[in-house]
Amino acid sequence: MSSENILEPLVDCIFDVAKVSKKLLYELLDIKEQFNIETFFKTVELKNKKDQYPKQIKIYSSDKGYIYLMSAPIGLGLSNFLKCKESLELQLRHKIDIRERKGYIEIEVITKELNYNIPYKLPIKEKTEGIKFPIGESLNEKVILDLKEDPHTYIVGTTGSGKSVCTKSILTSVSNLYGPGELELYLCDLKRVELNLFSKLKHTKKFVYTVEDTTEVIADLLEETNNRYDLFMKNNVTSIFEYNRLPGVKKLKYQILYVEEIVLLLEDKRKTAMKLLKQLIAISRASGCYVFLTTQRPSNDVIDNVVKANINNRIVFKCEDSKNSIVALDQEGADKLRGKGHGLIKRGSYIVEFQSFFITDQQVKELTRKYISNIKAVKEPYSGYKHLNNKVDSNKKEKPLKTNILEDLSFLDNI
Ligand SMILES: Nc1ncnc2c1ncn2[C@@H]1O[C@H](COP(=O)(O)OP(=O)(O)OP(=O)(O)O)[C@@H](O)[C@H]1O
Ligand SMILES: [Mg+2]
Repeated sequence: MSSENILEPLVDCIFDVAKVSKKLLYELLDIKEQFNIETFFKTVELKNKKDQYPKQIKIYSSDKGYIYLMSAPIGLGLSNFLKCKESLELQLRHKIDIRERKGYIEIEVITKELNYNIPYKLPIKEKTEGIKFPIGESLNEKVILDLKEDPHTYIVGTTGSGKSVCTKSILTSVSNLYGPGELELYLCDLKRVELNLFSKLKHTKKFVYTVEDTTEVIADLLEETNNRYDLFMKNNVTSIFEYNRLPGVKKLKYQILYVEEIVLLLEDKRKTAMKLLKQLIAISRASGCYVFLTTQRPSNDVIDNVVKANINNRIVFKCEDSKNSIVALDQEGADKLRGKGHGLIKRGSYIVEFQSFFITDQQVKELTRKYISNIKAVKEPYSGYKHLNNKVDSNKKEKPLKTNILEDLSFLDNI
């Protein structure tokens, strides 16, 4: 028997094992076995001047699906691969991400899908300082807002995109995780319908719905923020967290200002509220005052550079067109979202696709019932707001706004 004949069964056996493990790997990764990415690049003639084509180094699973790691022949770069993206997606029947990593090209095939309906559940309080809670889920993890790290947030999206549902989940979470002794809510509901489920909570210090009252609420918070910084300076600390750790001090409460539909603030020709708001978001990072803004219309006059520079949590649901997406996110994409709570969240330069929790009004009522203060039920829809325990006071005489705060805000126009 020749040595060739002796080795033949062994070689066959190795081939069989290799075939089976390849099949297993492909099954595991949910890849169609017949798809050969090297053949694909040959077919579309992605080659350099020496007729060399990209080579598959390996294939492995990822959080979103699986990744082809490719080597690029000299002369080809990321941009050449990106030109093939659409046709490769067509062949693979999945969305893909193509990026460069340590001299190789990674082609990630996204086979996993976002869960499109995630019922709201009360989150568990984390044992960390500051305000922290989840708002939804990405492909592989919870999307968490950590207001100590990123204090301010805007939520934008066209009508029906999911802003109010997200708002209700946020306010239900924070009011349950942080008691009225720890957190105050300042709700400015310029649309007059969205926030009133929370108007009677013990946490709610102000519930207003006119531009004038909103202006005053913001001016008051600005004054409070300045007072807190004076207090911090006297005590040689630089933040609410350090201050609250000092022995024997009365702990300061966190404050959340929620302004529903900031576009309506522009009705005031002098734009005082908008200017004060910009000043507040610029300085209140360490004072414990956190701002949430919502709008249907993310145009440059509402979400300008000052707002962008100071708001790090950008929650963007479906936008009307790519122009709006570019204003809100600095890139296209939000115009292609599905709506109904399907969003993108951008923090710094990092963008994640997610689905926000779905909460019903009934759930909000049940979960916040224990925090409702004993105020008589309101009969008429709006006049009622005025009886709310100084929460709304639209009849009051006009109080001069704090002129020291308003002295000169013109610098904000030039930022
Ligand atoms: N996270 C979600 N999961 C599932 N469905 C959702 C979600 N968010 C919103 N929806 C659906 O979309 C509808 C509209 O949502 P929502 O009221 O939040 O929109 P909106 O952005 O506030 O619109 P508008 O600007 O008109 O106030 C909801 O009634 C609900 O049926
Ligand atoms: Mg709404």
